[in-house]
Amino acid sequence: MKKNFKNAVRNGLSKANKTLPSKYFYDAIGDKIFVKIMHMPEYYLTRAEQEIFKNKVDEIVTYLKINKENPFEIIELGAGDGTKTKLLLKELTSNNFNFKYVPIDISNDALINLKNSLSKKFNSLIVETKQGDYFEVLDDLNKNNIKKIILFLGSNIGNMSDENATLFLQKLSSKMHKNDIVLLGTDVIKNKNIVLPAYSDAAGITKRFNLNLLTRINNELGANFNIDNFDHLATYTENEGIARSFLVSKIKQSVNIKGLEKTFEFEKGEKIHTENSRKYNDEILESVLKNSGLQISEKLMDSKKYFADYILTKK
Ligand code: AVJ
Repeated sequence: MKKNFKNAVRNGLSKANKTLPSKYFYDAIGDKIFVKIMHMPEYYLTRAEQEIFKNKVDEIVTYLKINKENPFEIIELGAGDGTKTKLLLKELTSNNFNFKYVPIDISNDALINLKNSLSKKFNSLIVETKQGDYFEVLDDLNKNNIKKIILFLGSNIGNMSDENATLFLQKLSSKMHKNDIVLLGTDVIKNKNIVLPAYSDAAGITKRFNLNLLTRINNELGANFNIDNFDHLATYTENEGIARSFLVSKIKQSVNIKGLEKTFEFEKGEKIHTENSRKYNDEILESVLKNSGLQISEKLMDSKKYFADYILTKK
């Protein structure tokens, strides 16, 4: 884990256009800041998806094609704090469905918190947590023949390039059996006036989230980033539907990273690209699904049509 982080930082900061991978936002501090993001007035994504899970849980359950006789597993990729999933779990446990819940997350802290809160809320629910990267955990997916329902919510897929999303969905599909189902949550391409504030909030919470990446490099790799010398920048191109986050060096500066035995130079105004948050529509999703063997079989949206949860099935 630490070795991967080290390599990722070395590679990313050595490029002509510097980058750092967004998956490293989520340490114990990053998780807490992300929970704050989900509650920000500007961050419409969580509320919109929550509304779908609240108002349309019956429809979701129908689309899952489950019954009480046959056991199944709910596998959630990037479970986080499980706010939306709890609405579904409540419906399923109160109707006595026979299933196991397997939340997977890159953050071990998030998993521990989730498991604790679930055992308080649903005492008979079987929860089996797994820590890891999305791509890696897919390998275990077809180990048994129990029906799988794979949740990939919250626009988490938005962090992947279209190329990686394509590869990921191909790999996911190749591990799925005929009756397995994916529930995929995507943010919908929409106006800049709505999207941009979600990534550059007035209170500066997203800025703290982004800067935490540098603090993490300081703490884990012995670097001397002065975070006061970096700004947060978010952009959104409405025609392609991608929000991007950057850290911008306010001054010309050198930063030493002891753990890498290396010093990195930053020009005034130089950017580190830290995240892509891709927004979707049917056309883009269909093109990403093209050679995956998966198809869109249902689509659920919130009342403002800001967010879409798709049901994907094997062709
Ligand atoms: C967790 C990937 C869905 O891209 O909207 C929020 C992360 N980054 N604010 C997103 C995030 C900045 C979020 N996802």
